[in-house]
Amino acid sequence: MPGAPFPAGRPRRLRRTPALRRLVTETRLHPAELVLPVFVREGVEQPVPVEAMPGVVQHTLDSVVKEARRCVAAGLGGIMLFGVPEAKDACGSGADAEDGILNLALRRVVEAVGEDLVVMADLCLDEFTDHGHCGVLAADGTVDNDATLERYASMALAQAATGAAVLGLSGMMDGQVGHVRTALDDAGFRDTAILAYAAKYTSGLYGPFREAVRSSLVGDRASYQQDPANGREALRELEADVAEGADIVMVKPAGPHLDVVAAAAALSPVPVAAYQISGEYSQIVAAAERGWVERDRVVDESVLGIRRAGASIVLTYFALEVAARL
Ligand code: PBG
Repeated sequence: MPGAPFPAGRPRRLRRTPALRRLVTETRLHPAELVLPVFVREGVEQPVPVEAMPGVVQHTLDSVVKEARRCVAAGLGGIMLFGVPEAKDACGSGADAEDGILNLALRRVVEAVGEDLVVMADLCLDEFTDHGHCGVLAADGTVDNDATLERYASMALAQAATGAAVLGLSGMMDGQVGHVRTALDDAGFRDTAILAYAAKYTSGLYGPFREAVRSSLVGDRASYQQDPANGREALRELEADVAEGADIVMVKPAGPHLDVVAAAAALSPVPVAAYQISGEYSQIVAAAERGWVERDRVVDESVLGIRRAGASIVLTYFALEVAARL
């Protein structure tokens, strides 16, 4: 059309060559900000594949040590351990037992990697309870918040004693950070850090994880995890966790809640982590297996998006894979 105006601003100028694009890149991934979640199963001789998470296994006590060494070699920031006990009961006794699978594994891994890797422990009861809830139950079957805090405190002391540097409080009980912080301090574990799952949404994307930890949960966690429809209460949770002494706060799942990651990053005085959870992993892997998406690109893009939203730490089952490409 004659006389039609040409654009004065041309953003494509900076996209013209790889060198120009490299110059104006805002977000870069680095292995040091990635944390690999791993499962350790009691009573198995060989790693057991998790069917719903191709490429992920339930480790033995020996294989988890090897995996931790791979994390060190890859320059990862940390490793987060989850325990899969052989026996479960109503109060989750395996969680704070000195010879419980998670505590045994933490000790082994800490011994193997020393301070070359930040060793993190999942601090929650759901892997250890026969009903599968994240806390102990009251007589009416509801999750008893304050009785659960006592269990978390005991679990925290057992985990801190293994030498784990960071305890990841994922149970979403009210007051859990303050209660555990006080218990740790009173026992002399002043340097054990707390990563608080500040905003943990109840999510269908936890499905594959439930297989990974052989969860016996019937029903859901909607009475303690947050409603995915809500953003405001995430900020309330974040403020409470920081006030109670959280050293790092986390948003989870990451992908569907990037607005919450961004809001947390804007407000939080402590580092913000985000957890790309099991279902986020499996969705990408499944689509890539069918040839519907390109695995490498989609994996990197998914993690990059979480970083760009403002998380400075990303927990992802892709951690070693992403690091290998950097
Ligand atoms: C609770 C916990 C869960 C996950 C991490 N910690 C499960 C849940 O809340 O149901 C999920 C992680 C994932 O799906 O990858 N201990």
